[in-house]
Amino acid sequence: MHPVKRTLVTTALPYANGPVHLGHLAGVYLPADIYVRYKRLKGEDVIHIGGSDEHGVPITITAEKEGISPQDVVDRYHRMNHDAFRKCGISFDYYGRTSSVGHHETAKEFFLEIEKKGIFRRKTEKQFFDVEANRFLSDRYVTGTCPICGNPEANGDQCEQCGTHLSPTELLNPKSKLSNATPELRDTMHWFFPLGRFQEALEEYVDTHDSQKISPESFEKEQYSVWRPNVVNYTRTWLKQGLSDRAITRDLSWGIELPISDREAQGKVLYVWFDAVLGYISFTRQWAAQVGDESLWRAYWQDPESRIVNFIGKDNVVFHTLMFPAILMAWNEGRENGIYNLADNVPASEFMNFEGRKFSKSRNYAVYLGEFLEKFPADTLRYSIAMNYPENKDTDFSWQDFQNRTNGELADTLGNFIKRSVDFTNSRFEGVVPHACSDEEWNTLGIEWHETLGKLDQAFEQCHFREAVSLGMEIARAANRFLTESEPWKVIKTDPAAAARTMALSLNLCQALSVALYPVIPDTAGRIRSMLGLEGSIEETIVCGQSLFSGLLSPQLQQGHRIRKQSEILFTKIEDADIEPELKKIERLLAETEKREAGAALERLTFKPEISFDDFQKVDLRAATVLSAEKVKKAGKLLKLQLKVGPETRQVLAGVAEHYSPEEMVGKQVVLVANLAERTIRGEVSQGMILAVEGQEGKLFLLEPSGNDINGNQIQ
Ligand code: MF3
Ligand code: ZN
Repeated sequence: MHPVKRTLVTTALPYANGPVHLGHLAGVYLPADIYVRYKRLKGEDVIHIGGSDEHGVPITITAEKEGISPQDVVDRYHRMNHDAFRKCGISFDYYGRTSSVGHHETAKEFFLEIEKKGIFRRKTEKQFFDVEANRFLSDRYVTGTCPICGNPEANGDQCEQCGTHLSPTELLNPKSKLSNATPELRDTMHWFFPLGRFQEALEEYVDTHDSQKISPESFEKEQYSVWRPNVVNYTRTWLKQGLSDRAITRDLSWGIELPISDREAQGKVLYVWFDAVLGYISFTRQWAAQVGDESLWRAYWQDPESRIVNFIGKDNVVFHTLMFPAILMAWNEGRENGIYNLADNVPASEFMNFEGRKFSKSRNYAVYLGEFLEKFPADTLRYSIAMNYPENKDTDFSWQDFQNRTNGELADTLGNFIKRSVDFTNSRFEGVVPHACSDEEWNTLGIEWHETLGKLDQAFEQCHFREAVSLGMEIARAANRFLTESEPWKVIKTDPAAAARTMALSLNLCQALSVALYPVIPDTAGRIRSMLGLEGSIEETIVCGQSLFSGLLSPQLQQGHRIRKQSEILFTKIEDADIEPELKKIERLLAETEKREAGAALERLTFKPEISFDDFQKVDLRAATVLSAEKVKKAGKLLKLQLKVGPETRQVLAGVAEHYSPEEMVGKQVVLVANLAERTIRGEVSQGMILAVEGQEGKLFLLEPSGNDINGNQIQ
């Protein structure tokens, strides 16, 4: 990597279709904010760009449900989320909207450029059409029964029950969400982006960020550009399967219209993911205009010595490591200038769960950021969440943990140390730093400053935020220990000079802590500064090109410096009574979820419509034997079975992988629906279906006919 001049940090644009919750904060926005604040402390040139993703089908569905316009929906949630982020101290340089005119222009510019180069392919495909509503139904407008797990309410793009990604035509009994009618298949033309055309270039791009491929000699130099294993793995899985054409248009009225006048373009808009990723560019342009230098955005996107870091959640990986880079490659192709940089790092988080369960908007199981901040201060949340950062694996946030960390770490360790230092200086040293601390003294505090700073720097740069924040808290612990063990309140009677030295060092430690912990608890850092009688906020102290961080290597407060007379309590302890209502609320939410699930189970007992005996006779059920079974890549629920049915061998994909291992399956006798039309699932042919029944908690039990020599025989 070349010397980095500047860094552009982006955060995934949350859909303006609901309030952001603590899971979003933990995975994306807080880590990004910690990272940019740390870089600002170092005096680096960094900007943080984010905003709302305001297109896409979930938004129009919400609008239809509530009888309002999509614009109303996004106005509401854009404001709500932007507010919540502000209250949480997420320091965006710009927070844009994909419904803005400027963004529409950028997206159209990209579409036209790629269209002009003839890179898109136009293809006609069959898609569901709602005759009553006179509309094509994209993805989520279709519901039906999941072919994998039998959930009767699967969405056209995904089944929430088993998590399988689907296409609408894979659903059994498809229904339109608009009219509840059975939709029919009709031809429609769409623009496709040929991802496969960029396969090789994308592989090369990924190689330069894969620790397995980077040569040991250049590893040190490239260490901050190395992607996390999860990011490389998700991306490689796609690359291994071979990249195919992706439709980048939809038959919808909400979204960015195609900027061409062809008749076929009528009524179509860009696919939300095609436009959303370009939001990063639009918003950087809008930021530049706002700071009064229209072309400044180029310094971040097009200067090869600038660096881009995209913070995202794990469900967004391939859009950022394959789709977006390919769009930029298509733009860059054949150009001399105006060439866009690709992201240097894409720190994707795992998920932070909440009280042992996944956050779920549709199940209303969540704690929303705005709500939380009405009850508790932002910094307590930021600290606890940072300590639960889901870097390499899912983590869990609980009220108990939040209470323990706030009381034990923030209040008892950090807050207490600061207050004792300020109070004692005020009561016994007239509120002035009573001694000139030397570097030598600074190095007798039980903190290896050089080593600690080196580690802190690495931890921040490599996005190991739990480690970075823990290191900061280690300084607070050491400081607390130093003050307690030095016992200035006793020593002052016999050796006032020693007590003066202790207090001067303690006040300097307070100052150092305000810097070291600023990225995670910025508001508190400001309050510490003000108690120390320091002028201006930390932000105002930052000078481009100068690191406040290296200031930790020596004491900064001069002898005679006057601190504020009044101390304050930095963190109020959280009492059991404060979190009790929250725990009650979770109980209620869980009870509701259970009730709903039980209700859904009951609903399923309403039988399907009557059929005639003749209809039933059409179903050909056979006793079959499992010859072999194997897992299906990228489809955790599926087993690929080879079945013996009389003289024939059939391949069947069955959604039982979570209930039976491949080894267990081999040799089993099963019931096969033998005359079901062939289907392709996950690119594999499935010639029939095997029967199973669901038990408690979704456990599946295969129907296993017993008997000798029954293979191939009809079940009647
Ligand atoms: N709105 C998407 C989500 O919430 C994220 C979009 S990220 C962007 O999953 F890059 F496309 F903006
Ligand atoms: Zn399913």
